[in-house]
Amino acid sequence: MIVLVTATGTDAGKTTLTRGLARAVRRRGIDVVALKPFETGVETVPVDAVALEQASGARWEGPWYRAKAPVAPWSATLMGEPPPDWDTIVAALRAAADHHAWCLVEGAGGPRVPIDATREVRDLASELGAAVVLVAPDVLGVLSYTFTAVESLTALGNTPIVVLRDVARPDPSATTNAMVLERKLGRAPFRLPFVVGDDDALADAVERSGLVEALGQPPARP
Ligand SMILES: Nc1ncnc2c1ncn2[C@@H]1O[C@H](COP(=O)(O)OP(=O)(O)OP(=O)(O)O)[C@@H](O)[C@H]1O
Ligand SMILES: [Mg+2]
Repeated sequence: MIVLVTATGTDAGKTTLTRGLARAVRRRGIDVVALKPFETGVETVPVDAVALEQASGARWEGPWYRAKAPVAPWSATLMGEPPPDWDTIVAALRAAADHHAWCLVEGAGGPRVPIDATREVRDLASELGAAVVLVAPDVLGVLSYTFTAVESLTALGNTPIVVLRDVARPDPSATTNAMVLERKLGRAPFRLPFVVGDDDALADAVERSGLVEALGQPPARP
């Protein structure tokens, strides 16, 4: 199974959730790999990719795209960095998925981040036949960001599982965000608490969320 983890935007909690999910699946004795195929803002070490590798305990070499500029991949290309090789990267992700029971793929930013002139992160879900998880921080603004992101994924037939994640200092919108998301999306969002701790602490939180079971039964495609 391939799971694409995307979000309402950058810094939303994709790596954090993917670390917890990878460790939770691994602790169940399931062979899992967690990859970050497109990572930007990389000076030397791709920190997200390394964190995912540590959480899953699996390494998969691939022609992964790394750019120095902390911008979308296509933006980095327009700034003069080498372009990503979409087909080779997609083929490497498929190969990784063939060799592992679960293959978690962290996107870059949100679903409409341009990878090159014609492809966006959301196209990865379609190409890979991936289940999609959308991480959304429980803050003011999450409603519109989430509806917009869900719509952009559903437009390509990839209805996401929404995970609302807690923040350290909630604002007043946190009282009702989950309720409004449930009413408008027809399904309660999964909840990820604010976790101070390591991969195992994150895995405990993911276990409690019920997300692993939900991914066993991803939402029906419209
Ligand atoms: N559930 C959580 N508990 C505690 N802190 C969290 C949680 N989720 C995210 N954070 C914190 O929020 C920040 C951004 O999270 P994270 O790096 O996972 O986002 P991201 O979506 O992967 O970002 P990027 O777009 O750069 O890949 C980090 O400092 C992280 O520690
Ligand atoms: Mg990340």
